[in-house]
Amino acid sequence: MKTRIIGTGSCLPEAVVTNDDLAKIMDTSDEWISSRTGIKKRHLAKAETTASMSVEAAKRALENAGVTAEELDLIILGTVSADYVTPACACEVQAQIGAKNAVAFDVNAACSGFMFALNIANAYIQAGLYRTALILGAETLSKIVDWSDRSTCVLFGDGAGAAVVRGDEKYGMLAFDQGSDGAKGDVLACLGRTNNNPLIKSDREIAYVHMDGQEVYKFAVTTVPASLQKTIEASGLTPEDIDYYALHQANIRIIQSVSKRLHISEEKFPISLDHCGNISAASVPILLDEMNRNGLLKPGTKIAMSGFGGGLTWASAILQW
Ligand code: COA
Repeated sequence: MKTRIIGTGSCLPEAVVTNDDLAKIMDTSDEWISSRTGIKKRHLAKAETTASMSVEAAKRALENAGVTAEELDLIILGTVSADYVTPACACEVQAQIGAKNAVAFDVNAACSGFMFALNIANAYIQAGLYRTALILGAETLSKIVDWSDRSTCVLFGDGAGAAVVRGDEKYGMLAFDQGSDGAKGDVLACLGRTNNNPLIKSDREIAYVHMDGQEVYKFAVTTVPASLQKTIEASGLTPEDIDYYALHQANIRIIQSVSKRLHISEEKFPISLDHCGNISAASVPILLDEMNRNGLLKPGTKIAMSGFGGGLTWASAILQW
């Protein structure tokens, strides 16, 4: 039995902010952002929330899969920017789509969140515990980035992506790799709320995302190709056999470096970061949905997926569509 993606959906906020728009409010330029990252614009939430975008993406994925909400056994949502500390965003999705037979929870693996959700769902399906799952990556990163720090805020965007997965005899996941290195957690971090109990008085201000860009870059360009190589080998394929590489959309230079290291043409690496920026856990499922709706994915198409980011965490999977 393999875990197969049978439907995808995504949702981006209505408001679009271009690099030129950002240059009007901070000391940056389209030339700096485009040349270093490939990002041209991003969607930023106004009325949208992490849950509202997740619900929309979930409905579209269910419709695309031809599955009803009642058929879901499991909902797993990767996010670092849920609307509430509790309830989990996955529980909000469950309530709003009416998935009354599912169990729902969030996972925090930053930009690897959707891939971790996929692997958890796969483990449940392999164990025979559940048959049909909804997995999501959803973020409102614009509320946790520091809009006075031009070196980080220009990189990120908001949005949600979802996929319905189900056990299948023929096609689906061939291999998976995931890992974390907590010792390097400080290179991409966002502190939580302060302790205000009667014993301690904190004068710390609200914290935002802090990143050592060059360290994250070095981590990504070494770990991602190694993880992909390992996963492709475990699936009994070669890098040339893969039709598409759906990578976390952090930076075009990271994607170009992975393509060089694997000796695979950049044409096999679809891109959404140019119009979305980096949406952490939502990047991979939004890209998958774009590929799906653009007709790139046919039954049997071989795709390699990889997510990487805060934690540090990483995860790759090889799937036959
Ligand atoms: N606009 C204009 N100038 C900017 C800028 C901006 N938005 N942000 C930073 N700069 C300036 C810096 O102040 C610095 O100026 P200085 O040389 O006068 O001090 C200069 O540009 C170079 O900064 P630096 O941080 O060294 O740039 P870089 O070449 O390392 O590129 C990143 C920065 C963030 C694009 C790059 O490190 C990167 O892509 N890292 C990976 C980040 C990532 O993908 N994170 C998410 C992973 S999930």
